[in-house]
Amino acid sequence: MDISPALKAANAAREFLSNRIQEIPQLAIILGTGLGNLGEDIETSDSIAYDEIPNFPISTVESHSGRLLVGTLSGVPVLAMQGRVHLYEGYSAQEVTLPVRVLSSLGIKSLIISNAAGGMNPLFRRGDIMMITDHINLQGANPLEGPNVDEWGPRFPDMSEPYDRALRDLTESSALELGVRLVQGVYVAVTGPNLETKAEYRFLRAIGGDAVGMSTVPEVIVARHMDMRVLAFSVITDECFPDALKPVSIEDVLAAAASAEPDLRRLISNVVTSV
Ligand code: HPA
Repeated sequence: MDISPALKAANAAREFLSNRIQEIPQLAIILGTGLGNLGEDIETSDSIAYDEIPNFPISTVESHSGRLLVGTLSGVPVLAMQGRVHLYEGYSAQEVTLPVRVLSSLGIKSLIISNAAGGMNPLFRRGDIMMITDHINLQGANPLEGPNVDEWGPRFPDMSEPYDRALRDLTESSALELGVRLVQGVYVAVTGPNLETKAEYRFLRAIGGDAVGMSTVPEVIVARHMDMRVLAFSVITDECFPDALKPVSIEDVLAAAASAEPDLRRLISNVVTSV
């Protein structure tokens, strides 16, 4: 029987990691732009560079370090991906999501994802944490393109509620308890790497977006294809109001991500104890 190249690639990575990691946790976290320091809260027993893992894509962006951490967060066993790759680096949607395929096939059941995003909802401020309630895929690419691998999931996966309701409820209570300001909304995924024009922000807001970014949606599609539970956060790193738009640099984006990081770290550290 022909085995799909994507399945073969994921199997090699799974094989390597299942030999290296003694006990596979139930939960994994993908740490996005400027949020890699959440890794400091993880008591690590192992740290595996992506370039050691067969077929793992390597980031070409400096702000991502590219390590898989194995350890515990608030006493809860986790795997944490410190850094991810993006479509704009030239990777395909299948390549970008190979790590999520591998996590699921190792036995991970729930996935927490973080990213940096531009805020389009006028009630949002730079440095806010947005819990993603839904998404719009405008990347013009889909990780499920091509022959379906039936052992991974169905040809036409449902997307009526990609972001797990129970995990969101839990997060809302946790934010209240911790006194962390948490906003909620729809994430629009674009390819990047340029930020948007005023006309594009106006359009993205008009079609229902609250925040816009360049990642996460391919990972969520694959996670849902494999029936993982998903919880995702955007740190609002710039205010994308078309009638008052100011130039934004990557330094501004990283500084805003860093300012929100302590609260996001507290929130995630608290939520994982109840996942
Ligand atoms: N647009 C797209 N991606 C982003 C932005 C933005 O304004 N800010 C951070 N990531």
